[in-house]
Parts: sequence; C-alpha cells; structure tokens
Amino acid sequence: MNVTICVGSSCHLKGSPKVIKRLEYLIAQHHLEDQIELSGSFCMDQCSLGSSGVCVQVDHVVHSVTPSTVDSFFQEYILGGLAS
Ligand code: FES
Repeated sequence: MNVTICVGSSCHLKGSPKVIKRLEYLIAQHHLEDQIELSGSFCMDQCSLGSSGVCVQVDHVVHSVTPSTVDSFFQEYILGGLAS
C-alpha cells in the first residue's frame, strides 16, 4: 500500500510534519513497515480539499487528515484498507 503525505506549504502549515510522525509511529507499532510505503509529495493541487487538514493519498484516493484525526484515519483507511 502506498501512502503519500503532502508536504506542500499549505499542508505543512496544517500539520503535515505531525501527521507524518504519527503515521510512522503507528506503522511501526503495528509492524507494517513491509506493507506500507510512506512517502512525501509536493503540493498535490488539492489544497482546497484539505481545507482543514493535510492531504494524504492512500493508493489513489486523497483524504484530508489533521493531527487530531490521524489515529482514526489510520484505523479506517490504512488498517481497513489492508484488511480488505
Ligand atoms: S499544499 Fe498540500 S495539496 Fe497543496
């Protein structure tokens, strides 16, 4: 599974460094390093979509994630996606 986090300036201001740190932690905690490829991307041209959060793309779908929603996002779209 490919997970790409936007590190463009707008997403950076909304907390992308915190989102990346937390995802790295959750991936390690669940021992998913072999199954998830985490990477960063410049602006994904989705600044408006991520109006309240950071754009995070899981496979081909872009989500808006904030530092406070990253745990539920991980559960639903990363663990949920791996299970499906
Ligand atoms: S800065 Fe993240 S989508 Fe534009």
